[in-house]
Amino acid sequence: MTPPQIYISRMLPTSAFELLRAVCNVRTWEDEMPPPRALFLREISDCDGVLLMLTEKLDAEALAAAPNLRVISNMAVGVDNVDIAAATARHIPVGHTPGVLTETSADLAFALLMAAARRLPEGERYVHTGQWKTWFPTQLLGQDIHGATLGIIGFGRIGQAVARRGKGFNMRLLYSGGRDDDAAQALGAEKRPLDDLLRESDFVSLHVPLKHETYHLISARELGLMKPNAILINTARGGIVDPEALYHALKDGKIAAAALDVTEPEPILPDDLLLTLDNCLIVPHIGSASVHTRTRMAVMAAENLLAGLRGDRLPYCVNPEVYDTGST
Ligand code: NAP
Ligand code: GLV
Ligand code: GLV
Repeated sequence: MTPPQIYISRMLPTSAFELLRAVCNVRTWEDEMPPPRALFLREISDCDGVLLMLTEKLDAEALAAAPNLRVISNMAVGVDNVDIAAATARHIPVGHTPGVLTETSADLAFALLMAAARRLPEGERYVHTGQWKTWFPTQLLGQDIHGATLGIIGFGRIGQAVARRGKGFNMRLLYSGGRDDDAAQALGAEKRPLDDLLRESDFVSLHVPLKHETYHLISARELGLMKPNAILINTARGGIVDPEALYHALKDGKIAAAALDVTEPEPILPDDLLLTLDNCLIVPHIGSASVHTRTRMAVMAAENLLAGLRGDRLPYCVNPEVYDTGST
């Protein structure tokens, strides 16, 4: 039997790559930058399976370009880059990487929370630009983390992991969205409607997936409800926050600061006004970026792909309804 043809849209850690190379004909895009769209469409045109990154859009056009496709494996937990409905209509299972990146992503969210609260990037710039001349009582004052109220929007895997960190810092915990009320009770987190959470929180951390209902969930009205000392942390997806509204809220002192791992667009454009603000900390989508976690994500993505190629149920499938129809 001819081995299945697969396309991998970036170099993977060896342990994951070897799993695939052992049983597939593999073509890999070897650059750091994403494959150009036209090339991506050409590369997947004869493929049985594709392992892709969040930088590649697998939309209806791409699906149409790949008539043999039997499995899609995203090396991310978020799947907003894949048209799930279109894949499901073709009975193509879509894999993703939940769980393995939860704690690493929560670490980054909390690192951003702390860095913004205590103005670490400003402090670093202050030292490196020779402004540190003395100590004085009002120098680079920030917000206390301990004892503050942390509002978590999207109380899923990562949201709860951030809540656990907040509890360790003796924060008061609020949440909106998510079904796990038992986990909330165990942590002492109180459920609030979104508007109340925004009004009451000193820190607001976003952990919802990007979809139609969460696009620009945080816009001018929502930012207007927040406290002037509040700090917004976004490690979910850039599209959840309206960037123009955020710029004005930060510039006008409606909120104290923001810390972003994700932006809209992504990467942020060099002339984006958010980059001109001292109270906006931005890092380049590194939520899951630890050596250990990226390796585990790659292996998980490879295992999802291999299961799909064998015709087995994907271990981590976004659209299990493809199996209801009995056809994969
Ligand atoms: P998850 O376990 O599915 O958690 C998402 C939570 O959001 C669920 O509790 C869900 O509730 C809730 N939710 C969905 N729609 C909502 C809405 N409209 N309003 C309020 N809550 C809503 O996913 P996860 O593993 O924690 O990951 C969350 C997201 O983080 C991913 O989708 C991804 O975009 C992002 N992420 C980013 C990075 C990074 O590198 N920065 C890394 C990993 C993940 P239900 O269960 O009721 O739907
Ligand atoms: C990263 O952003 C992910 O969704 O895994
Ligand atoms: C600060 O360094 C202090 O000793 O209070």
